[in-house]
Amino acid sequence: MNSSDDFAAEAGLDPARLPAHVAIIMDGNGRWAKKRMLNRVKGHEKGADTVRMAVRASRELGIAALTLYAFSTENWQRPETEISALMTLLKRFLKSEKQEMLDNNIRLNVIGEMERLPGSVTSLLEETMQASENNSGMVLNLALSYGARSEIVRMVRQLSALVAAGTLSPEAIDEKMVSNHLYTRDIPDPDLLIRTSGEMRISNFLLWQIAYSEIHITDTLWPDFNREEFIEILKDYQGRDRRFGNVKTP
Ligand code: IPE
Ligand code: IPE
Ligand code: MG
Repeated sequence: MNSSDDFAAEAGLDPARLPAHVAIIMDGNGRWAKKRMLNRVKGHEKGADTVRMAVRASRELGIAALTLYAFSTENWQRPETEISALMTLLKRFLKSEKQEMLDNNIRLNVIGEMERLPGSVTSLLEETMQASENNSGMVLNLALSYGARSEIVRMVRQLSALVAAGTLSPEAIDEKMVSNHLYTRDIPDPDLLIRTSGEMRISNFLLWQIAYSEIHITDTLWPDFNREEFIEILKDYQGRDRRFGNVKTP
């Protein structure tokens, strides 16, 4: 057994049946702050600590890919002050976590419209992605300015440009090709999708990729989400019967 197997077994999980890819809609920072009569930004600050926990726990347990929905295309509609606080927090996170990612063999990847982010954020992201590009312990996907519909439009444009140029025939387009033109092309589809803070919606996250993901929604607000609950959710996942439309053969 390697050390992640030990961690998983100690936590009461079957190391062989962990989800290869966990995606999380990290929601509820604003409500956490409101409950305490604090500014929403305080909720985002506390939420950044939960991000550290989730990355660390996933890596220790041996989850191969973790995707975190950090900023959606719709989040650009929020007040300027909140957006800039989020960008500042993101920069702080990247600076403080870079070494830990490198030490723990974690590869950073971004999904989303990176070109819409402020230059100071993009350069830090690029620097960390480059420094970690050969790491193989886990891929941390940050969804930034991410929207599934915009991702799908981008894919359609890429494929239709190839068709228009005469280098691709429409009949050759299959599910694999579509997947290969999404931001997540190198990563298997999420096995498990978690949303915190109780909203029963997808909010434009990974629409294509979650076709067969197991969904877990918890009422816990993201800043209150902890390692114990994360492990409980993974246990619950391990108890699910994933049929993929098929029936069990006797
Ligand atoms: C999630 O928390 C963080 C982002 C969307 C950036 P929210 O800021 O959406 O918190 P609530 O939903 O208002 O509580
Ligand atoms: C989804 O949360 C986006 C992120 C977690 C980054 P939102 O708070 O933006 O979603 P809605 O408004 O509840 O749909
Ligand atoms: Mg929200």
